[in-house]
Amino acid sequence: MTADVVSQGALRIRRATAADAEALAEIGARTFSDTFAADNTPEDMKLFLQSTWRPDLQRAEILDAELDTLLACDALGAIAGFAQIRAAHPPKDVVVRAPVELKRFYVDKPWHGRGLARSLMEAAEQAARARGAREFWLGVWERNERAQAFYRKCGFRKVGTQIFVVGTDPQTDHVMLREIE
Ligand SMILES: CC(C)(COP(=O)(O)OP(=O)(O)OC[C@H]1O[C@@H](n2cnc3c(N)ncnc32)[C@H](O)[C@@H]1OP(=O)(O)O)[C@@H](O)C(=O)NCCC(=O)NCCS
Repeated sequence: MTADVVSQGALRIRRATAADAEALAEIGARTFSDTFAADNTPEDMKLFLQSTWRPDLQRAEILDAELDTLLACDALGAIAGFAQIRAAHPPKDVVVRAPVELKRFYVDKPWHGRGLARSLMEAAEQAARARGAREFWLGVWERNERAQAFYRKCGFRKVGTQIFVVGTDPQTDHVMLREIE
């Protein structure tokens, strides 16, 4: 489980192990705050972060055989980005054969625009293929323009919407999907 998925120069993409739980919880909370704190109330942010990013939760996720957790690590071994995928269905009006969800996809700010996201996406797609995916799909906040632009570059298109609750706030996500040949 610790074998590299990708090794490119200073960048290494590998599967997470239980020993990564604390670091994953830290970067998960930090990247979520960096991205969304300005557009949400402090109360909703606090509720969401407390219920989602805790070392015990990430440990359980890493050990969950239904979930693949991939880490992109820099030359010093620090986590620069991560992706989590699982077999899961999109909203019921989206027609699919064998769907795999990109549940979370986050890259730390210093690495934005440097190609790391593309490498991590390729590794995530490889993991989705290994789970037999015919469709790869995700939810992205309707106001997260940068992520939507990135996903479009990767071949995803909008096929619907779903609700994602941050704290007490039900928000509209775009559901985006791409076929896997
Ligand atoms: C989403 C994410 C993984 C994309 O990685 P990235 O390295 O930033 O992506 P790229 O720079 O390759 O692509 C982003 C594109 O959006 C464009 N862009 C930047 N800001 C934008 C904005 N406000 N509106 C529209 N497009 C924007 C960029 O110009 C770039 O397009 P280009 O390559 O044609 O110039 C990364 O930004 C990230 O982790 N963000 C924070 C967490 C997040 O939002 N995760 C997704 C949750 S669903």
